Amino acid sequence: MDQSAFDTDVWTLTRFVMETGRQAKGATGELTQLINAMLTAIKAISSAVRKAGLAHLQGLAGSVNVTGDDVKKLDVLSNDLVINMLQASYGTCCMVSEENKELIVTPKDKRGKYVVCFDPLDGSSNIDCLAPIGTIFAIYKRVSEGEPTEKDALQPGKAMVCAGYALYGSATLVALTTGAGLHFFMLDPAIGEFILIERNVKIKQKGKTYSLNEGYAKYFHPSINEYLKHKKYPEDGGSPFGARYVGSMVSDVHRTIAYGGIFMYPANEKSPKGKLRLLYECNPIAFLIEQAGGIATTGTQRVLDVQPEGLHQRVPFVVGSPDDVNEFLTFVQKYQ
Ligand code: AHM
Ligand code: MG
Repeated sequence: MDQSAFDTDVWTLTRFVMETGRQAKGATGELTQLINAMLTAIKAISSAVRKAGLAHLQGLAGSVNVTGDDVKKLDVLSNDLVINMLQASYGTCCMVSEENKELIVTPKDKRGKYVVCFDPLDGSSNIDCLAPIGTIFAIYKRVSEGEPTEKDALQPGKAMVCAGYALYGSATLVALTTGAGLHFFMLDPAIGEFILIERNVKIKQKGKTYSLNEGYAKYFHPSINEYLKHKKYPEDGGSPFGARYVGSMVSDVHRTIAYGGIFMYPANEKSPKGKLRLLYECNPIAFLIEQAGGIATTGTQRVLDVQPEGLHQRVPFVVGSPDDVNEFLTFVQKYQ
């Protein structure tokens, strides 16, 4: 067999994170260990997602999560995996998960200095139809001393030190930033490692696609509907935008970063703050998008500037190519 295309000096995600950690002044390796623990959880979730049908992991687990959705077995399993792996890394003091109403406080003997907010399995309505799903996480340094409190988790997104998502799509991909660019890694199942496939990813200045659940148009603010009309019937005679919506944010956001365009989950009459949660859905994605040169806004404010008030608070969310998001904002401003 010809082995000539075999890379003998690959950049694995572990290597990348270790290298970045080494270069950081005063680094102790705690963040590196924490990120590695997250990656172990992601690999295990990826494997569980891939064999969900065979392993009888699909279907309802019989409980309901804090925001009222049905919890599937895969959600429960993913949540347990992330919590256990992170606590075992000795890098966390507390965590916030979409699946847990309360702050998860790390046992005293396993505590470290970081706070992790995560959605273990986002896009849960897509589990049973085998559409892509994902994991999202944000890492902060704790701000208090002594017993960890909610205050440690209620930091604005701009204080984040690391964010990432895993997309369980046609392949498993991890997007990661530690504040020095956005990088993509693909899981090579043969060696069980994430391999660097794109460094310093940049989003297009302008895209050709809009992405939202347009089925709620009846309940949208007129500014949103006016914007959508403009995308479908451009007054200048240009080409209309294409529409794409998976209904798994990681998948919709990943496409938006890869191809350009705009993704949004705006407020509507039924959900006055939209649906997506600030701490573990919007903030990490906003950090990643900004690192790629894109914009993330609530419509009135930069997402990363929002001062969180509750662990599970929601915000309207609009992200994407700078020209597209700025154009959207001109429609919002017309009504202010
Ligand atoms: P989940 O965390 O319960 O899976 O909900 C979040 C998901 C996002 O991935 C996606 O953008 C959104 O819900 C889709 O909601 P809708 O079905 O209202 O369009
Ligand atoms: Mg979610």
